[in-house]
Amino acid sequence: MVEERLEVMLSAEEIGKRVREMASKISADYKGRKPLLIGVLKGAVIFLSDLIRSLDIPVEIDFMAVSSYGADTASSGVVRIQKDLDRSIKDKDVLIIEDIVDTGLTLSYLKENLSSRQPKTLKVATLLDKPERREVVFDPDYCGFTIPDRFVIGYGLDYNEDYRQLADLCILKA
Ligand code: IMP
Ligand code: MG
Repeated sequence: MVEERLEVMLSAEEIGKRVREMASKISADYKGRKPLLIGVLKGAVIFLSDLIRSLDIPVEIDFMAVSSYGADTASSGVVRIQKDLDRSIKDKDVLIIEDIVDTGLTLSYLKENLSSRQPKTLKVATLLDKPERREVVFDPDYCGFTIPDRFVIGYGLDYNEDYRQLADLCILKA
């Protein structure tokens, strides 16, 4: 059931197809290696779980939680680690898995923080990119969809912790 305030931007089928394409590219690029995929909680959970099941290479997973928007839809610009990794990433091939790059503040902070821990390689895969809202220069290594500047929910993304369970990615209309 789709509520009146929601408009589908990307259907579950479109997302599924693109996630499988991203998985083949990542599998090819990391062939012969076992990367550590770091999911950024909580929004990237659905993307990470779909992505890893379409990979044909072995991976490890870990999670980090960082503060971003709180209860608002505007970025505070403040990034704080709320849950850190369980293990060291030194000398590992690390791939950060994020739901969406918006201002770019979260990922530029995370990349800088993780690179100081001396991984062998460090890359970023994001399902969505909203380049119009960028406040710092940031280019993801893998990107599912470039989308216009609209607030989206579903497929793991929330508004005030609601709507994460929706299979489609939807625009939340004011
Ligand atoms: P950034 O630091 O501005 O790039 O923010 C990235 C984070 O903001 C993402 O990981 C999301 O949690 C959140 N975010 C940005 N845009 C949206 C959106 O349209 N819907 C839901 N969450 C969003
Ligand atoms: Mg997020």
